[in-house]
Amino acid sequence: MIDPFKRLARKGLFLFNPETAHGMSIAALKSGLVPACQITPDPRLRQTVAGLAFDNPLGMAAGYDKNAEVPEALLKLGFGFTEIGTVTPKPQAGNPRPRIFRLVEDEAVINRLGFNNEGHDAAFERLSALTGGGMIGVNIGANKDSEDRIADYVAGIRRFYSVARYFTANISSPNTPGLRDLQARESLAALLSAVLAAREEMAQKSGRKIPVFLKIAPDLTEEGMDDIAAEVLSHALDGLIISNTTLSREGLKDQRQAQETGGLSGVPLFEKSTAVLARMRKRVGPGLPIIGVGGVSSAETALEKIRAGADLVQLYSCMVYEGPGLPGDIVRGLSKLLDREKAGSIRELRDSRLDYWAARKV
Ligand SMILES: Cc1cc2nc3c(=O)[nH]c(=O)nc-3n(C[C@H](O)[C@H](O)[C@H](O)COP(=O)(O)O)c2cc1C
Repeated sequence: MIDPFKRLARKGLFLFNPETAHGMSIAALKSGLVPACQITPDPRLRQTVAGLAFDNPLGMAAGYDKNAEVPEALLKLGFGFTEIGTVTPKPQAGNPRPRIFRLVEDEAVINRLGFNNEGHDAAFERLSALTGGGMIGVNIGANKDSEDRIADYVAGIRRFYSVARYFTANISSPNTPGLRDLQARESLAALLSAVLAAREEMAQKSGRKIPVFLKIAPDLTEEGMDDIAAEVLSHALDGLIISNTTLSREGLKDQRQAQETGGLSGVPLFEKSTAVLARMRKRVGPGLPIIGVGGVSSAETALEKIRAGADLVQLYSCMVYEGPGLPGDIVRGLSKLLDREKAGSIRELRDSRLDYWAARKV
């Protein structure tokens, strides 16, 4: 339930179309108008994942801060980490507007942005000007008109190596035609080999090994999941992010907006993305880091991702509905849930509902 103040703020923002409202929220974060959140650090929420020390397990998902305009302001809202991008080598405009749609009754969003972004150089300039040392990941992709998509990912690794705490190779956006084909076994093998070779080369040069994660779609067959798991395990990948938006429109109340083309996110994605996360955890075993994303709206749903096999979680869409206080509420809520469970650390609860979620039909 949202409080009256939040409801009013939301009503105000919802007077504008979603893309304008998004721009206004970025401007508010830039201006410092959004107050920083007060959280008492809880050592039980700290974890080292892929060699990185996270203060808490909640991150801002990619797509909100595509151009690295407000990563430090986002961290001040309570997030333990944030992911900029997707960035592509060249700037690109993306698809014609309107291209973001709110499904208010469903607490969901459909987007078909198509990697609108200012390109590598603009994001790199902003990230290199930061001094805070925050936990900021860089999500890399390929230009729509690229003749060599794999080369675009390699360029991303090289360009951002000195400023990224981790990389995400995003091959799961439904809005760049053919991009998801990179999830097919042979293409994925070629992508992972090239990206990880570039990382190796940069690690040799710099003396620092930056982890690389792969972000996958929730719309995978069992064979598709087998293939991804096999390739991931045979390469030196550092982890998976599960999942991107879905093409499914099942169970939506807003049948009118449901007709829009694009990827669906928010509350209706929760079950599917959590089931795929658990199925992939079963396949890759306990050692590989996994970040769970899709429909996280509360401390309970964040913890459920962890119980289903995630080490860390991210969110985006539910912040559109709940506002900038959501990350702080979730992080404080996680501490309360740990009290209730009498758990000494968040890690203790990982996988505690793995079997339930892995068996879940979606
Ligand atoms: C408007 C919008 C834009 C997005 N852009 C990107 C993107 O550029 N790269 C990416 O990897 N994911 C992108 N995503 C997907 C989110 O990072 C996330 O995986 C997905 O929305 C599920 O999480 P949620 O239900 O908490 O939103 C975008 C999502 C939305 C709603």
